[in-house]
Amino acid sequence: MGESKPLPDRATITATLIDYVAQLREEGMDGLPPSARPSSAAAAPAVEQSRRVVNAASDSSAASRSAPAREMFSKYPGLEKTESLEALREFIGDCRRCKLWGLRKNLVFGVGDPHAELMFIGEGPGADEDARGEPFVGRAGQLLTDIIERGMGMTRAQVYICNVIKCRPPENRNPEPDEVAACEPFMMRQIELVKPRVIVGLGTFAVQAVLKVKTPISRLRGNWQDVNGVRMMPTFHPAYLLRNPADKRLVWQDVQQVLKELGRPIPGRSGA
Ligand code: URA
Repeated sequence: MGESKPLPDRATITATLIDYVAQLREEGMDGLPPSARPSSAAAAPAVEQSRRVVNAASDSSAASRSAPAREMFSKYPGLEKTESLEALREFIGDCRRCKLWGLRKNLVFGVGDPHAELMFIGEGPGADEDARGEPFVGRAGQLLTDIIERGMGMTRAQVYICNVIKCRPPENRNPEPDEVAACEPFMMRQIELVKPRVIVGLGTFAVQAVLKVKTPISRLRGNWQDVNGVRMMPTFHPAYLLRNPADKRLVWQDVQQVLKELGRPIPGRSGA
Protein backbone atom coordinates (compact mmCIF):
# COMPACT_ATOMS: atom_id res chain seq x y z
CA MET A 1 0.00 0.00 0.00
CA GLY A 2 1.29 3.50 -0.82
CA GLU A 3 2.13 6.04 1.85
CA SER A 4 -0.89 8.02 2.99
CA LYS A 5 -0.60 11.78 2.82
CA PRO A 6 -0.72 13.57 6.20
CA LEU A 7 -4.01 15.43 6.71
CA PRO A 8 -3.74 19.23 6.74
CA ASP A 9 -3.84 20.71 10.23
CA ARG A 10 -6.72 22.80 11.51
CA ALA A 11 -4.94 26.13 10.86
CA THR A 12 -4.35 25.22 7.21
CA ILE A 13 -7.97 24.12 6.72
CA THR A 14 -9.19 27.34 8.37
CA ALA A 15 -6.89 29.48 6.24
CA THR A 16 -8.04 27.68 3.06
CA LEU A 17 -11.71 28.21 3.93
CA ILE A 18 -11.13 31.87 4.79
CA ASP A 19 -9.35 32.28 1.46
CA TYR A 20 -12.25 30.76 -0.37
CA VAL A 21 -14.85 32.93 1.36
CA ALA A 22 -12.71 36.04 0.80
CA GLN A 23 -12.50 35.18 -2.89
CA LEU A 24 -16.28 34.78 -3.09
CA ARG A 25 -16.70 38.15 -1.38
CA GLU A 26 -14.40 39.80 -3.86
CA GLU A 27 -16.34 38.25 -6.69
CA GLY A 28 -19.40 40.04 -5.36
CA MET A 29 -21.28 37.21 -3.62
CA ASP A 30 -23.76 38.58 -1.09
CA GLY A 31 -24.76 37.07 2.24
CA LEU A 32 -21.32 35.96 3.35
CA PRO A 33 -20.33 36.38 7.00
CA PRO A 34 -18.64 39.69 7.82
CA SER A 35 -15.89 37.75 9.54
CA ALA A 36 -14.69 36.43 6.20
CA ARG A 37 -11.57 38.60 6.41
CA PRO A 38 -8.67 36.44 7.59
CA SER A 39 -7.22 37.03 10.98
CA SER A 40 -3.51 37.60 10.59
CA ALA A 41 -2.59 34.46 12.55
CA ALA A 42 -4.70 32.14 10.41
CA ALA A 43 -3.59 33.86 7.22
CA ALA A 44 0.11 33.59 7.88
CA PRO A 45 0.92 30.23 6.19
CA ALA A 46 -0.73 31.10 2.86
CA VAL A 47 0.73 34.61 2.76
CA GLU A 48 4.16 33.18 3.47
CA GLN A 49 3.70 30.68 0.69
CA SER A 50 2.73 33.36 -1.81
CA ARG A 51 5.77 35.43 -0.76
CA ARG A 52 7.99 32.45 -1.46
CA VAL A 53 6.51 32.09 -4.95
CA VAL A 54 7.03 35.79 -5.63
CA ASN A 55 10.57 35.77 -4.36
CA ALA A 56 11.43 32.62 -6.24
CA ALA A 57 10.32 34.35 -9.42
CA SER A 58 12.39 37.45 -8.82
CA ASP A 59 15.45 35.61 -7.45
CA SER A 60 15.79 33.60 -10.62
CA SER A 61 16.21 36.75 -12.67
CA ALA A 62 19.82 37.74 -13.22
CA ALA A 63 19.09 40.94 -15.10
CA SER A 64 15.81 41.62 -13.28
CA ARG A 65 13.59 39.55 -15.61
CA SER A 66 12.06 36.56 -13.86
CA ALA A 67 11.86 33.14 -15.49
CA PRO A 68 8.12 33.57 -16.28
CA ALA A 69 8.88 36.99 -17.77
CA ARG A 70 11.68 35.54 -19.92
CA GLU A 71 9.27 32.90 -21.14
CA MET A 72 6.70 35.59 -21.96
CA PHE A 73 9.24 37.52 -24.00
CA SER A 74 10.33 34.46 -25.95
CA LYS A 75 6.76 34.28 -27.27
CA TYR A 76 7.11 37.44 -29.36
CA PRO A 77 10.49 37.84 -31.05
CA GLY A 78 11.30 41.53 -31.37
CA LEU A 79 9.24 42.57 -28.37
CA GLU A 80 12.26 43.35 -26.23
CA LYS A 81 13.67 45.51 -29.00
CA THR A 82 10.80 47.99 -28.67
CA GLU A 83 12.49 51.00 -27.10
CA SER A 84 9.49 53.21 -26.31
CA LEU A 85 5.81 52.93 -25.57
CA GLU A 86 5.06 54.22 -29.08
CA ALA A 87 7.25 51.48 -30.55
CA LEU A 88 5.52 48.92 -28.35
CA ARG A 89 2.10 50.15 -29.46
CA GLU A 90 3.24 49.84 -33.05
CA PHE A 91 4.54 46.33 -32.36
CA ILE A 92 1.13 45.31 -31.01
CA GLY A 93 -0.54 46.79 -34.10
CA ASP A 94 -4.04 45.65 -35.09
CA CYS A 95 -3.66 42.72 -32.69
CA ARG A 96 -5.27 39.38 -33.53
CA ARG A 97 -3.22 37.27 -31.17
CA CYS A 98 -6.26 36.07 -29.18
CA LYS A 99 -9.99 35.67 -29.78
CA LEU A 100 -10.93 39.04 -28.24
CA TRP A 101 -9.85 41.02 -31.28
CA GLY A 102 -13.08 40.52 -33.20
CA LEU A 103 -15.19 41.87 -30.34
CA ARG A 104 -13.34 45.06 -29.49
CA LYS A 105 -14.10 48.61 -30.57
CA ASN A 106 -10.69 49.81 -29.46
CA LEU A 107 -7.55 48.24 -28.15
CA VAL A 108 -6.89 49.90 -24.78
CA PHE A 109 -3.13 50.27 -24.52
CA GLY A 110 -2.39 52.59 -21.60
CA VAL A 111 -2.29 56.25 -20.67
CA GLY A 112 -0.23 58.72 -18.69
CA ASP A 113 3.36 59.77 -18.17
CA PRO A 114 5.63 57.37 -20.11
CA HIS A 115 8.26 57.81 -17.37
CA ALA A 116 5.92 57.85 -14.39
CA GLU A 117 7.30 56.83 -11.02
CA LEU A 118 3.92 55.31 -10.22
CA MET A 119 2.06 52.82 -12.39
CA PHE A 120 -1.42 51.33 -11.88
CA ILE A 121 -2.29 47.96 -13.39
CA GLY A 122 -5.90 46.82 -13.67
CA GLU A 123 -7.57 43.78 -15.12
CA GLY A 124 -8.89 44.70 -18.55
CA PRO A 125 -11.11 47.25 -20.28
CA GLY A 126 -14.85 47.44 -19.64
CA ALA A 127 -17.48 48.87 -22.00
CA ASP A 128 -16.55 52.54 -21.38
CA GLU A 129 -12.86 51.86 -21.84
CA ASP A 130 -13.51 49.86 -25.00
CA ALA A 131 -15.57 52.74 -26.40
CA ARG A 132 -12.98 55.41 -25.56
CA GLY A 133 -9.77 53.42 -26.00
CA GLU A 134 -8.54 54.58 -22.58
CA PRO A 135 -8.22 52.59 -19.34
CA PHE A 136 -10.29 53.38 -16.27
CA VAL A 137 -12.72 55.96 -17.63
CA GLY A 138 -16.00 54.40 -16.40
CA ARG A 139 -17.39 54.44 -12.85
CA ALA A 140 -14.51 52.42 -11.43
CA GLY A 141 -12.19 54.73 -13.33
CA GLN A 142 -13.73 57.79 -11.71
CA LEU A 143 -13.04 56.26 -8.33
CA LEU A 144 -9.46 55.48 -9.35
CA THR A 145 -9.06 59.10 -10.46
CA ASP A 146 -10.36 60.16 -7.06
CA ILE A 147 -7.85 57.90 -5.31
CA ILE A 148 -5.03 59.39 -7.40
CA GLU A 149 -6.13 63.02 -7.05
CA ARG A 150 -7.73 63.34 -3.63
CA GLY A 151 -6.12 60.35 -1.94
CA MET A 152 -2.60 60.79 -3.29
CA GLY A 153 -2.40 64.45 -4.28
CA MET A 154 -1.31 63.51 -7.82
CA THR A 155 -2.91 63.76 -11.27
CA ARG A 156 -3.74 61.07 -13.80
CA ALA A 157 -1.22 62.71 -16.14
CA GLN A 158 1.55 62.13 -13.57
CA VAL A 159 1.03 58.38 -13.34
CA TYR A 160 0.81 55.58 -15.91
CA ILE A 161 -2.32 53.42 -16.08
CA CYS A 162 -2.78 50.18 -18.00
CA ASN A 163 -4.36 46.75 -17.78
CA VAL A 164 -3.16 43.17 -17.94
CA ILE A 165 -5.23 42.60 -21.07
CA LYS A 166 -5.83 45.24 -23.70
CA CYS A 167 -9.16 44.16 -25.20
CA ARG A 168 -12.53 43.92 -23.53
CA PRO A 169 -13.81 40.44 -22.70
CA PRO A 170 -17.50 40.04 -23.66
CA GLU A 171 -20.12 40.62 -20.94
CA ASN A 172 -17.32 41.80 -18.66
CA ARG A 173 -16.38 38.21 -17.93
CA ASN A 174 -12.96 37.45 -16.46
CA PRO A 175 -10.21 37.16 -19.04
CA GLU A 176 -9.43 33.55 -19.95
CA PRO A 177 -5.96 32.01 -19.54
CA ASP A 178 -5.17 32.03 -23.28
CA GLU A 179 -6.14 35.73 -23.46
CA VAL A 180 -3.89 36.56 -20.54
CA ALA A 181 -1.04 34.53 -21.99
CA ALA A 182 -1.37 36.34 -25.33
CA CYS A 183 -1.46 39.81 -23.79
CA GLU A 184 0.65 39.83 -20.62
CA PRO A 185 4.02 40.12 -22.41
CA PHE A 186 2.88 43.60 -23.49
CA MET A 187 2.10 44.63 -19.92
CA MET A 188 5.50 43.28 -18.86
CA ARG A 189 7.20 45.37 -21.55
CA GLN A 190 5.17 48.42 -20.47
CA ILE A 191 6.62 47.98 -16.97
CA GLU A 192 10.14 47.72 -18.37
CA LEU A 193 9.72 50.81 -20.57
CA VAL A 194 8.01 53.06 -18.01
CA LYS A 195 10.37 51.87 -15.25
CA PRO A 196 8.11 52.97 -12.42
CA ARG A 197 9.47 53.01 -8.90
CA VAL A 198 6.21 51.57 -7.63
CA ILE A 199 3.33 49.62 -9.17
CA VAL A 200 -0.12 49.51 -7.62
CA GLY A 201 -1.86 46.27 -8.60
CA LEU A 202 -5.64 46.70 -8.69
CA GLY A 203 -7.74 43.75 -7.64
CA THR A 204 -7.57 39.98 -7.53
CA PHE A 205 -7.23 39.31 -11.20
CA ALA A 206 -4.49 41.81 -12.02
CA VAL A 207 -2.42 41.01 -8.95
CA GLN A 208 -2.71 37.26 -9.40
CA ALA A 209 -1.80 37.58 -13.08
CA VAL A 210 1.22 39.76 -12.41
CA LEU A 211 2.52 37.70 -9.47
CA LYS A 212 1.50 34.27 -10.81
CA VAL A 213 -0.11 33.33 -7.51
CA LYS A 214 -3.59 32.22 -6.51
CA THR A 215 -3.69 34.01 -3.16
CA PRO A 216 -6.74 36.29 -2.89
CA ILE A 217 -6.26 40.02 -2.88
CA SER A 218 -7.60 40.30 0.67
CA ARG A 219 -4.44 38.53 1.83
CA LEU A 220 -1.99 40.16 -0.52
CA ARG A 221 -3.15 43.75 -0.16
CA GLY A 222 -1.09 45.98 2.03
CA ASN A 223 2.01 43.78 1.62
CA TRP A 224 4.81 44.81 -0.71
CA GLN A 225 5.59 42.39 -3.52
CA ASP A 226 8.35 42.23 -6.10
CA VAL A 227 7.78 42.31 -9.85
CA ASN A 228 11.12 41.88 -11.59
CA GLY A 229 12.79 44.27 -9.19
CA VAL A 230 9.94 46.79 -9.04
CA ARG A 231 7.96 47.12 -5.81
CA MET A 232 4.27 46.40 -6.16
CA MET A 233 1.55 47.25 -3.68
CA PRO A 234 -1.54 45.08 -4.23
CA THR A 235 -4.82 46.70 -3.30
CA PHE A 236 -8.54 46.34 -3.92
CA HIS A 237 -9.99 47.09 -7.35
CA PRO A 238 -12.03 50.32 -7.53
CA ALA A 239 -15.02 48.32 -8.86
CA TYR A 240 -14.88 46.23 -5.68
CA LEU A 241 -14.79 49.44 -3.63
CA LEU A 242 -17.95 50.67 -5.36
CA ARG A 243 -19.69 47.59 -3.95
CA ASN A 244 -17.84 47.60 -0.63
CA PRO A 245 -17.20 51.25 0.28
CA ALA A 246 -16.25 50.32 3.87
CA ASP A 247 -13.03 48.85 2.50
CA LYS A 248 -11.91 52.21 1.10
CA ARG A 249 -10.10 52.77 4.38
CA LEU A 250 -7.87 49.76 3.61
CA VAL A 251 -7.01 51.18 0.20
CA TRP A 252 -6.25 54.47 1.91
CA GLN A 253 -3.77 52.60 4.13
CA ASP A 254 -2.21 50.98 1.06
CA VAL A 255 -1.79 54.23 -0.85
CA GLN A 256 -0.25 55.85 2.19
CA GLN A 257 2.42 53.16 2.10
CA VAL A 258 2.94 53.93 -1.59
CA LEU A 259 3.28 57.67 -0.95
CA LYS A 260 5.78 56.97 1.81
CA GLU A 261 7.81 54.75 -0.49
CA LEU A 262 7.82 57.49 -3.14
CA GLY A 263 8.75 60.13 -0.54
CA ARG A 264 5.60 62.09 -1.35
CA PRO A 265 3.49 64.02 1.18
CA ILE A 266 0.29 62.47 2.45
CA PRO A 267 -2.61 64.82 1.55
CA GLY A 268 -4.32 66.32 4.58
CA ARG A 269 -1.40 65.68 6.90
CA SER A 270 0.17 68.76 8.45
CA GLY A 271 3.51 69.46 6.80
CA ALA A 272 2.13 68.06 3.52
N1 URA B 1 -11.48 47.81 -14.77
C1 URA B 1 -10.21 47.51 -15.10
O1 URA B 1 -9.61 46.60 -14.54
N2 URA B 1 -9.64 48.24 -16.05
C2 URA B 1 -10.23 49.24 -16.67
O2 URA B 1 -9.60 49.86 -17.52
C3 URA B 1 -11.56 49.53 -16.31
C4 URA B 1 -12.17 48.82 -15.36
